Parts: sequence; C-alpha cells; structure tokens
Amino acid sequence: MADSITITDNRNGNTIEVPIVNGGVDAAQWSKLLPGVWFLDPSFGATASTQSAITDLDGENGILRYRGYPIEELAEKSTYLEVAYLLVHGDLPTSAEYEAWQYDITHHTFIHENMRKRFLDGFHYDAHPMGMLVSALAALSTFYPEAKDIDDREVRLKQIIRLIAKTPTIAAACHRFYAGLPFNYPDNELSFPENFLQMMWRVGDPKYDADPRLVRAIDILFMLHADHEQNCSTTAMRVIGSSHADPYSSAAGAAAGLYGPRHGGANEAVVRMLTSIGHMDNVGAFIDGVKSGSGRLQGFGHRVYKNYDPRAKIIKNAAYDVFEVTGKNPLLDVALKLEETALSDEYFISRKLYPNVDFYSGLIYQAMGFPIDFYPVLFAIPRMSGWCAHWNEMLDQNQRISRPRQVYTGAPVRGYVPIAQRI
Ligand code: ACO
Repeated sequence: MADSITITDNRNGNTIEVPIVNGGVDAAQWSKLLPGVWFLDPSFGATASTQSAITDLDGENGILRYRGYPIEELAEKSTYLEVAYLLVHGDLPTSAEYEAWQYDITHHTFIHENMRKRFLDGFHYDAHPMGMLVSALAALSTFYPEAKDIDDREVRLKQIIRLIAKTPTIAAACHRFYAGLPFNYPDNELSFPENFLQMMWRVGDPKYDADPRLVRAIDILFMLHADHEQNCSTTAMRVIGSSHADPYSSAAGAAAGLYGPRHGGANEAVVRMLTSIGHMDNVGAFIDGVKSGSGRLQGFGHRVYKNYDPRAKIIKNAAYDVFEVTGKNPLLDVALKLEETALSDEYFISRKLYPNVDFYSGLIYQAMGFPIDFYPVLFAIPRMSGWCAHWNEMLDQNQRISRPRQVYTGAPVRGYVPIAQRI
C-alpha cells in the first residue's frame, strides 16, 4: 500500500496524491489542488507548524526525548546547563565544549545596572513577577541592538547565551524587588542552579550554602521544563521570530504565552486549587464539581499527552526528596487523594486526563519557599533554552514569515452610514 493520501475536489474531479513523510503531509501541495480553500484548524490541533529535530514527544505513549535522549535518563544523569547545550547545539557537549559553555553562561549572568535600578525599580510595589519578566526581556533588546543581526550565527549564539544566563538574574531581581530585599549579584563561583538560589535567598551572609538536595531538585525541574516542542509559548517564539524580530522581543512574546493559566500559569493554579480544597475529605465533592462543569482540575489534562506525562512521574519522586529537607507540604495528601480519585473516575479515564508537569511542581516550589506568583517565572527560566533552540532552528530553516489565513464569517459588503442616520 502506498504511503500517501489522495484527495479529490468533487467540484471539478481534480485529484492529487500527496506522500506521507514522517507522519505528515505537505499542506502546500494540497493547496495547489484547492486554491482559496483554507484548512480550518483554530488551535493548530491537527497542524504541524514546522519540522523540528529538537524534541520528540509521543503523547499516546507518554514519551519525551530531547535530541533523542529520554527525559528520564537526562533527569537522572545530566544537569540543566548540559541539557541547554544539547537543545541549542544538537549534541551533548565534550568536556572542553561544556567547560566553554559553562564559562560563557556564567560570564553573561550580569544585567546592566540601569536594567535593575531604573527599569525594574520603576514597577508598582506589588507587580506580578511574570509581568516584570516579560517586560524586562523585551527591554533587553534595547541594551543589545546588535541582536537584530539575525543572519549572523555567531551573533545569534551570543544572544542565546545572554538570554539563558540573564533570565535567572532578572527573575531573582523581580523577587527581591517584590520582597523589598537588596539585589544579590551573580556569583561566578557557583553552578547555574546554586547561583540562582543564592540570588533568590541570600540575606546578610557573604556566601550562601544551598542544601545540595534542593540544588539537585531545582536542576531536575529545570531539565524537565527546558523544552516541550511546539507548545503555546514556543510557537509564539517561532512565530514572532519569523518576522525577524530580535530574540529578546521574541522571548518576551514567548514568556507572555507562558504566563496564562492554561500553560505555565497552571502550577500556580494547582496550588490555589489544593489550598481551596484544603483537606482530603473534600476531594470527592471537588471532583463532583469539576464533572458538573464548575471549573477544571488544574494540573490535569494535556493537548498532546493522552497518557501519564513522563515529567509528572519524575517530579512526583523529586517532591519526596525535597520534603526530606523542607518537611512535607501539607497539601501533598490532598494532591495524592485527588490524583487517585481522578484516575479511577470514568470522566477522567474516558477523556484520557492524567496529571501533567504542573500537578506536583507547585508543591515543590511552595515547600522550597517560592511565592506562588513566582511559579510561572520558575518555568520560564529553563524554558528559555528551548525557546532559543527553536528560534535558532527556525532561522536555520530560513522559514517564511508565519502568516496563517482565516475563514471569514463576518458581514458581507455594506455601505457606510453617517452617524446621524444610524438607528
Ligand atoms: N479538568 C476537567 N476536565 C478537563 C480538563 C481538566 N483539567 N482538561 C480537559 N478536560 C475535559 C474538557 O472539558 C473536555 O471535555 P468534553 O469533551 O466533555 O468537552 C475534554 O476534557 C477535552 O478537553 P479540551 O479542553 O478539548 O483539551 P485541550 O487539549 O484543548 O486542553 C488543557 C488542554 C488546556 C491543558 C486542558 O487539559 C486544561 O485546561 N487543563 C488544566 C490546566 C493545566 O493543567 N494546564 C497545564 C498544561 S501543561 C503545560 O502547559 C505545561
């Protein structure tokens, strides 16, 4: 049997055979047969927006691989910085490559003093850190005007290093502003996750000694959040980047996409939901409410995963390691009961709704003392490497500007009526 699809335009009997390549068909070829007929797919549920060699996601079987490496293996054996290199460069680094990468990232963690003192300090005292981050990423483009030279691969790589390196610094600066604490400068002696934790939490002491178990937990969470193929924010990055906007402006758009509760804001929503449920005994009533349409079970369901999200499994285990240090998050029992109840309920089974990455991550962040508003920021820090890898790949592919069509459903042509004559 041929690995192709034949379609016929019944209006005129014209026919076209399109090959199936890597599980996809070339819509542009179909368009040759159907000029002026658009493929209506508002949320891109049936559309592959690009070919990509970065992340392999098989939602039916719960598989996630970065550049071919299973997420489980990376989470066990690798570090976030190595994973960021893998995503951006395509292969795991040699020792020399890793050393150079680590040096470059470490030596680009500082932000311009105006950025911190004048830009970030100008926000309202209780500004949401995600709003601050989105704005700060866009503002970075004004500090690095050479970033517009997107045809130069070296210039591109320099901006990628800056974005990966500076995002934790900006994130921590947003927190310190909100908390009313002085900014902590990056410490070049520390690893990527340790440096982030010292910028967040160090008060007074000249050195910050993070518990290695918490450092490892953050590193694992960063690895799990680094990329997830063509999700909402990554698609935003590619779409904005396709206009040849600079990477800082593109990343600001991507971060804005991540902010929403259906995407990176879900971990925040999970903790708010668990807090409002309050006790295991209330789980049954809450699930009944979800089934009758009064809200969603936050941290459950995914556009692509129709099986257990592999990241959720790893995070669930990491949670126990964190709780050994911080003490158990009292909401864990509510979460476990909620998961158990939902996974044995026909409503969730029939819709293939499983815990996603956000179901347990918020519990870890809460136990580690991160303010609830800050959770999407914790997602954005590592996702920056994925956004940058996709932006770079899109430019290497010399992609045309993203410009979908629409199916117009509005009024037919009509004449302008002067305001005095309108009824
Ligand atoms: N709770 C209850 N019902 C749900 C949930 C949920 N969390 N998610 C989906 N459903 C139901 C829908 O009501 C729908 O039911 P119906 O067929 O009777 O109408 C069915 O399952 C399919 O849902 P859709 O909304 O069509 O699924 P979609 O792929 O568009 O949405 C999404 C995916 C946005 C993630 C959704 O599952 C959701 O809102 N989940 C809660 C928020 C969340 O956890 N987001 C984080 C996602 S992971 C990430 O971005 C990092």
